[in-house]
Amino acid sequence: MSSKNKIEANNLTKHFERKIALSSLSFTIKQGELIALIGPSGAGKTTLLNSIAGLVPISGGELLIDGQPLSTFKKGKVFAKKVGVIRQQFDLIGPLAVIHNVLAGKLSDWGTFKSLFSLLITQEKDIALKALKRVGLPEKAYEITSTLSGGEQQRVAMARLLVQKPEVILADEPVASLDPARADDILAMLTKIAAEENQTLITSLHSVEYARKYFNRIISMKNGEIFFDLPTEQVSDELLAELYQIKSGGVG
Ligand SMILES: Nc1ncnc2c1ncn2[C@@H]1O[C@H](COP(=O)(O)OP(=O)(O)OP(=O)(O)O)[C@@H](O)[C@H]1O
Ligand SMILES: [Mg+2]
Repeated sequence: MSSKNKIEANNLTKHFERKIALSSLSFTIKQGELIALIGPSGAGKTTLLNSIAGLVPISGGELLIDGQPLSTFKKGKVFAKKVGVIRQQFDLIGPLAVIHNVLAGKLSDWGTFKSLFSLLITQEKDIALKALKRVGLPEKAYEITSTLSGGEQQRVAMARLLVQKPEVILADEPVASLDPARADDILAMLTKIAAEENQTLITSLHSVEYARKYFNRIISMKNGEIFFDLPTEQVSDELLAELYQIKSGGVG
């Protein structure tokens, strides 16, 4: 028996004024799938991820999570358990100690102030320290977050995600600002965590190499449409060349 659809889009459309950013997309994603979202700049990757995260309202069609329209989910604790987002800037609070940022994952509906107090609870502290250990930063718990390197801060964001434990993780170019070794490291960790927790992961990437290395399925977008949606092993160099072609409709 096949598992249930975690995310389902039916003719999903998004326009900004007259600009069509997503043009009638349809796809289904099952729980536990690891998906890379690729395509040229302006293709609609961020718009799609933001739509699934409920950060931008859709203009038409349907977007379901666990069979329920996204619009029926209330923001707050319940939604934070469903969908977690990693952005390029990680959304960490720089002046706070690392451990507070990690606990913010658990207390997404409490706000910073209460998450500071949560450290008084030993159990919560242990959860945060365990997560930091898992991402390889146990010794940084009490350092000020903004003093960490970009790669380390990305690990803190990962620890926060471990604590939040959402069913779906959306990551928009999570490694864009990192050097290749760090980028590889973070993607290895992100995909490993998602696989271990049976989480659904959708990551937009500009690197086809990483998409192929760490993800089972690649969805490519071009001009607001799905260009191909294939198991990684079926993605040929020819298709990729066509996807990223700069000229369109030129030579005939
Ligand atoms: N808030 C907005 N207002 C108007 N147009 C927008 C807005 N956000 C996105 N767009 C347009 O929608 C299209 C898709 O943008 P999007 O940011 O989703 O692309 P992308 O695939 O993430 O690109 P990149 O790889 O450069 O991040 C672009 O043409 C963009 O200009
Ligand atoms: Mg983008």
